[in-house]
Amino acid sequence: MSGYKTFAVAGAGDIGRFIIEELLRHFQDGSVSKVVALTRTSEGYDDLKAKGALFEQVDYSNRSDIVAALQGIDVVVSAISGGALAVQVPLADAAKEAGVKHFVLSEYGNPSIGKSYGIFAVKNKVRQHLLDIDLPYSQFFTGPFSDWFFVGHEDWGFDLPNGKVIVRGSGNVPISWTASVDIARYIVYVLTHLSPADLRNKPFALEGERRTIHQILEEYQRRTGKKLEITYETTEFLEKQVKEHPDDYENGLIRMLFLEWERGDGQTGAPEEVNKYWPEFNPTRAVDAILGLYESH
Ligand SMILES: NC(=O)c1ccc[n+]([C@@H]2O[C@H](COP(=O)([O-])OP(=O)(O)OC[C@H]3O[C@@H](n4cnc5c(N)ncnc54)[C@H](OP(=O)(O)O)[C@@H]3O)[C@@H](O)[C@H]2O)c1
Repeated sequence: MSGYKTFAVAGAGDIGRFIIEELLRHFQDGSVSKVVALTRTSEGYDDLKAKGALFEQVDYSNRSDIVAALQGIDVVVSAISGGALAVQVPLADAAKEAGVKHFVLSEYGNPSIGKSYGIFAVKNKVRQHLLDIDLPYSQFFTGPFSDWFFVGHEDWGFDLPNGKVIVRGSGNVPISWTASVDIARYIVYVLTHLSPADLRNKPFALEGERRTIHQILEEYQRRTGKKLEITYETTEFLEKQVKEHPDDYENGLIRMLFLEWERGDGQTGAPEEVNKYWPEFNPTRAVDAILGLYESH
């Protein structure tokens, strides 16, 4: 057991909201005693507030603001947006000053270690900063979120309600897909069950299911009876676009990540390494997550 019971989550967005909800669920068994959410506005989030989350409004450029919000907190879980990852540097400095014992980096995607391009460059810079200030950290590599990527994010190429799909690359390379709810479950389990020494400066690999894009689309069509119209972008086209436009969203992020997956970098780890720290994890399969079919965990 880590003994960590008080948590602050920075950013109650796509994944942060799931992590906050999972932490709140653990009030019941006593493994979590306090959940603070850091946001730049205290408006909204009424459902989370009603369940016991304490919302603290912070300005990430005001160190004393963050230090005050983090008093008595054991673990900061960063769920800051991909476009604002650099604010984790002042957040980490304030966490150190406030006496926080552990920091979870905003990763939640492909393994970032050793990569010096795109979003990964920023993620590694923040990780180095945590080493420099000697604040222990963990990273959770999850692959793409199965319930996010295929649902409501048509700019990524998957417009399932209208039956249109763009597969960027071959679509034949296995990828680790994990549902947001399972990412939150695994993170909270690991943070509360492992010892501080076992959590220290460590990457964790998880996955709901390892499947190719084609396998997922085939299963989706079979189970729903819907026919998808699939078009393709070649790997050569992706490479050209990323090279020529490294800084825009469609090329520098979306197409760059499809190229990563084509190289096999969407796999979070060796099969014997993934989900290793919670044998009873039992995550949701990718198409079940797309269809909103969750077993009650
Ligand atoms: N693997 C996947 O499929 C996948 C999908 C999405 C995201 N991700 C990863 O998950 C992580 C979190 O992404 P997300 O989609 O959950 O984030 P998000 O919902 O876009 O944003 C999370 C929070 O970040 C805060 N934020 C945004 N801009 C900010 C700024 N300029 N300064 C300070 N705070 C700011 C906002 O909090 P407040 O407005 O409340 O302050 C927001 O609610 C990222 O590392 C991203 O790369 C992975």
